This record gives sequence, C-alpha cells and structure tokens, in this order.
Amino acid sequence: MKNIAVLVSGGGTNLQALIDAQNRGEIKNGKITCVISSNPNAYALIRAEKNNIPAEIIRRKDYSEFIEYDNALTELLKSKNIDVVVLAGFMTILGKIVINAFENRIINIHPSLIPSFCGEGFYGLKVHEEALKKGVKITGATAHFVNEICDGGPIIIQKAVEIQNGDTPEILQKRVMEQAEWKILPKAVSLFCEDRIIVKDNKTEIID
Ligand code: GAR
Repeated sequence: MKNIAVLVSGGGTNLQALIDAQNRGEIKNGKITCVISSNPNAYALIRAEKNNIPAEIIRRKDYSEFIEYDNALTELLKSKNIDVVVLAGFMTILGKIVINAFENRIINIHPSLIPSFCGEGFYGLKVHEEALKKGVKITGATAHFVNEICDGGPIIIQKAVEIQNGDTPEILQKRVMEQAEWKILPKAVSLFCEDRIIVKDNKTEIID
C-alpha cells in the first residue's frame, strides 16, 4: 500500500475528489496518509479534519531562504514515508530538492490541456481567463508528473471539455473541475499506486 500526501492551498475540491474516490475503493493500492497546506486558512484543511487525515502546514514565508523551505518540505515528506505527492491546487512552486527526491513521484493537476495555457503565471482562474480570451473551443485538464520545468513533466492523463456560449472564467472553471479534474486526478493517482505508469523520454505509457 503506497502512502499518498496531498498538497493543497485553497478550497480543496480536488482533495475531496481523491477522498471520495478512496472511499469508493477507486484508489487501488494507495491511501491518503497526510495533507499538507501552504495556507493555514485553507478550507482543504477542514476537509482533511472531517475525514481524519493528519494535516500539516508549511509556509514559504516562514523560511528566509527558498532552499531552507525546499529542504523542510522534503524532510517532512520523507519523515512521513510518503511514496507519492499529489499537488491538488498547491500554489507554492516546488524546489529542486523536493523534485529530485521524488522524481516521477509528484503528480500535479493543471486546469488546461498542456501545452496550452500553462507555465509560469498560469494557475487557477487565470488559466480559464486566457482560454476564453483566445477563443479556443475545447479546453480541459491534465494530470502530469512534476519536473523542473513548470508544467513540463510527463503527461499521465488528459481530458477535454467543451467551451460553451456565455462562459465566464468561473463557469468554465467549474465545468473543467467537474468533467475533467475530479475524474482524472484520482485515476492518475490510482494508476501510480498500482505501478501501471512507465516513464520514458519525458512521456508516459500506461500498462493495461
Ligand atoms: C484547480 O482548478 C487546479 O487545477 C488548479 O487550482 C485549482 C484548485 O482547486 N491548479 C493550478 O492552476 C495549478 N497550476 P481546489 O483547491 O478546489 O482543488
């Protein structure tokens, strides 16, 4: 059974999707053993508490140097014997130390079809604002491994979502979450826990 840490910063609807999937038995060979928040006021922490999942808070601003923060997060994850780290709306950039310590073991959910609308500065509602500004007809979400390039790691699963007349960034964000993010993130985590993802040349292959 693999130990899963879910890193959050806000509402935590993706954390909830993971908890619900776990309760339905859809996270095979894995268990959420820890939630880590960058924000002490995140509603995601209440979700963790309600489900008896131990939670920790780690804030970048409590460390004068980024490297100290990077080390502290890495040590925290190691001390909890974490096998896989899930970024579920975690809004602090990860450093080299944690990325190297958990190579191809950190999964992020991004609210667009990478390589569109991704990279530095593309997070949360901003992603949907840009998609609407460009006038694309299809967007979606991507679950991918994290490497040192922002949103550049191997793609695990993508799911497309149609843009509709009258969409606002908020309406589109909700549709992308409901139709894509909450489905593909638990699936990607389960595939990882079942050892069904092979990474080669910055790409993944899923074993049936
Ligand atoms: C989600 O839409 C997630 O894809 C996005 O933040 C939201 C968090 O919502 N993440 C990024 O933009 C990362 N670049 P949640 O706290 O309700 O899960």
